[in-house]
Amino acid sequence: MKNYVKSDSEVMYHVGLSREMLQGAHIAVLPGDPGRVLPLAKELGGKDVPVLAVHREYTSALIEVNGQKVLVCSTGMGGPSTAICLEELARLGIDEVIRFGTTGTIQEHVDLGDVLIAKAAVRLDGTSRHYAPIEFPAVADFDLTYLLADNAKKLGADYHLGIAVSSDTFWPGQERYDSFTGYVPRSLKGTMKEWQQLGAVNYEMETSALFVVSQALGIQSCAILGVVAKRTDSESIAPSSAYDKAFAGMVQITRGALGDLTK
Ligand code: URA
Repeated sequence: MKNYVKSDSEVMYHVGLSREMLQGAHIAVLPGDPGRVLPLAKELGGKDVPVLAVHREYTSALIEVNGQKVLVCSTGMGGPSTAICLEELARLGIDEVIRFGTTGTIQEHVDLGDVLIAKAAVRLDGTSRHYAPIEFPAVADFDLTYLLADNAKKLGADYHLGIAVSSDTFWPGQERYDSFTGYVPRSLKGTMKEWQQLGAVNYEMETSALFVVSQALGIQSCAILGVVAKRTDSESIAPSSAYDKAFAGMVQITRGALGDLTK
């Protein structure tokens, strides 16, 4: 195997982690928000989970599932910080990744608090273009995605499997007009209707970069997303009860998938 790090104690510049600190973990659960790392780690791995590292947008914790170490680490928002996270974690031996994020649905039949599992993503981001030409698809790893969907089905969760639209921006790229200026450039006007017509399910900001960069690095990734905005009703993020409902479902599904992966 190529020697990706000089030594097991070498600390990666951005995520602040070394191979030694990961204690053999090869699976990672990646929320976007650093503030969600500990609550999520505690739900997945037990009460006494210490923080592993805090550096820039990357907060991490190590949990144990079926006797195996599993990393929980934030990616920060958007493609660039997600790609940096993946580059460094891959060097440390992470080869299976579950993104655990939030999203806004663009479809009427999807409700606040529901869970989405992304089978692919529209590449409305810049980061993935640095790894593969735009013709290259942003697709989830089939086996990991199947595990998420299978666990969701078994749990009777309100989940939807579909195509996400991953945008570099929260406002113009997701055709939101409640920005500071209210201006959406001509090239992006009408795009929400187009994605709806094509059956895409949701907007978010990381999954296309996650899928393309994972493919480029030779690691497997999937994405589970909680619906916190319903764009057919409003441009706003819903009250926290929507996140709480989605979080509870996502935790159960992710716990099931981790259980299967560590059997
Ligand atoms: N994250 C996004 O990028 N968009 C939303 O609408 C909600 C969460």
